[in-house]
Amino acid sequence: MNSKPPVPRHIAIVMDGNGRWAKARHRPRSFGHDAGRKAVREVVEGCLRHGVEALTLFAFSSENWQRPQAEVGALMTLFLRALDKETDELHAQGVRLRFIGDLDRFEAPLRERMLAAMQRTAGNHKLQLNIAVNYGGRWDIVQAARQAAQAIARGELRAEDMDEATLGRFISLGDLPPLDLFIRTGGEYRLSNFLLWQAAYAELHFTDTLWPDFDQTCLRRAIDDFGHRERRYGRTGEQIATGHQG
Ligand code: IPE
Ligand code: IPE
Ligand code: MG
Repeated sequence: MNSKPPVPRHIAIVMDGNGRWAKARHRPRSFGHDAGRKAVREVVEGCLRHGVEALTLFAFSSENWQRPQAEVGALMTLFLRALDKETDELHAQGVRLRFIGDLDRFEAPLRERMLAAMQRTAGNHKLQLNIAVNYGGRWDIVQAARQAAQAIARGELRAEDMDEATLGRFISLGDLPPLDLFIRTGGEYRLSNFLLWQAAYAELHFTDTLWPDFDQTCLRRAIDDFGHRERRYGRTGEQIATGHQG
């Protein structure tokens, strides 16, 4: 028998439920987004404590631009403030910060701060913290296909040599450990266009807890849940039990 259940190397979270959390308190939705910052700190601390190597958080989807302008504006202000306030602490903790998504759509001050935070923390290795903003899983596959096509046009790659590993290198986070655990808070059972490629063999964990209430205990529960899953990758349970033979 193995002694300790495995800890996921890479966790992704759809941080959902801020609006409902605020509504239950008769406050504006932006109040819920603000409250969600504490939960981000909690999961970062938790991942550092458990030795998780990479954490990828869905902060703003490519579809979220369709929300009322006031809410989008409040979210942008929150991102700016959070970047100014949290980057020092993250850097001190040895966290490497990366933003994934189409950053071109953001206004210059925000984009510049994101790039500066990425550059500043680029040498850190304790935890890879990836924040998905203006991100969509289909966009990610399209941008990878475009990069691959450009490499073919330059003569650096042959179309016949294109395979999953080759395209996978152009997909966001292709240099990180594969996604092990995909968590969604807020009680919905859908992916909402997050990490479609990367989630191919991730274990899924859904919880009704609204994002602002998600804390280290909730994270531990998800990690424990993961530790007891049997990951078969298409094989049989018997093959897994006997070390993949036969
Ligand atoms: C998730 O919370 C945060 C973002 C999408 C930015 P929601 O704002 O979607 O909260 P609910 O789902 O309406 O409760
Ligand atoms: C997904 O949540 C996006 C983020 C958490 C950033 P949504 O609240 O936007 O997802 P849907 O609309 O319920 O699918
Ligand atoms: Mg939502």
